[in-house]
Amino acid sequence: MTQKRNIALITGASSGIGEAFALVCAEHQYDLILVARNIKKLNILAARLTQDHAIDVSVRKCDLTVPDEIKKLTESLLLEGTPIEILINNAGMLEHGAFVDIPSETHQNILQLNVLALTAIASQLLPSMIARGHGRLLNVASIGAFQPLPSVATYAASKAFVLSLSESLAEELRDTGVTVTALCPGLTATNMMTQAQEKNHSLLKIPNLVISDPYEVAQKAFRGCLKGKTIVVPGAKNVLTCLLSRATPKWLVRRITGIFGRATLHQ
Ligand SMILES: NC(=O)c1ccc[n+]([C@@H]2O[C@H](COP(=O)([O-])OP(=O)(O)OC[C@H]3O[C@@H](n4cnc5c(N)ncnc54)[C@H](OP(=O)(O)O)[C@@H]3O)[C@@H](O)[C@H]2O)c1
Repeated sequence: MTQKRNIALITGASSGIGEAFALVCAEHQYDLILVARNIKKLNILAARLTQDHAIDVSVRKCDLTVPDEIKKLTESLLLEGTPIEILINNAGMLEHGAFVDIPSETHQNILQLNVLALTAIASQLLPSMIARGHGRLLNVASIGAFQPLPSVATYAASKAFVLSLSESLAEELRDTGVTVTALCPGLTATNMMTQAQEKNHSLLKIPNLVISDPYEVAQKAFRGCLKGKTIVVPGAKNVLTCLLSRATPKWLVRRITGIFGRATLHQ
């Protein structure tokens, strides 16, 4: 008899924190559905995880900035009736620069991916979790969700949305058996970080000490998610940043992030 395993769906699984989530879930014997645009990378990852952990992995190519592709993805999942135990809304994008220098289309794509795709997938897949009486939603926000961040204004605003939505849903779904967690990582060594550093050389000066490892971030998030924690901030330095941000008057936080944000624009 084949053993029945739980299923985790991970968006943005082709690299970085999403790839690390795939590994952590595989280590805990979850079957996986991996979503991203780069199908080649997903296939390579799927083959490795299948071989190393004896789990089932299916891959879905989907550009989550395209509403029709999101619709196709969620409709096929609903049609198949796959009981997803953990939905990890991880895919995200960041653009650094002055708000007015970033093309309008890029702002739209950030919102489409970080906000609308995440909301659409959650709203389509939560009802079956609620009907079953168990399931977990893990949304990837950022410590940038706790304060405005001039120079990555749209990104920070999108992550504030993710944090707020997750906190609201965690309460709305209390006692349904479904938990909602917002993961708020600080700087993490992924392609997103490398690309930001290539565009903005001042980020190269950030000491390695404050940069987290994606696997450790995914491990902490996975543990927090299984415990039903509403907010997971991995790393003591990031916890401190969030606490300081929440305890400091808003006007002062704005001035401080303004000084740093403007400085990165004038490199
Ligand atoms: N790295 C950090 O410092 C940091 C800090 C806080 C929060 N985060 C958050 O962590 C999450 C993961 O980011 P990461 O740091 O791991 O960056 P990453 O290595 O660049 O990974 C981003 C993932 O999102 C996928 N993705 C991007 N655009 C997509 C699209 N249009 N449709 C479908 N998938 C798309 C990418 O896959 P494809 O290119 O194959 O589509 C990739 O798998 C994001 O939500 C990010 O905001 C990161």
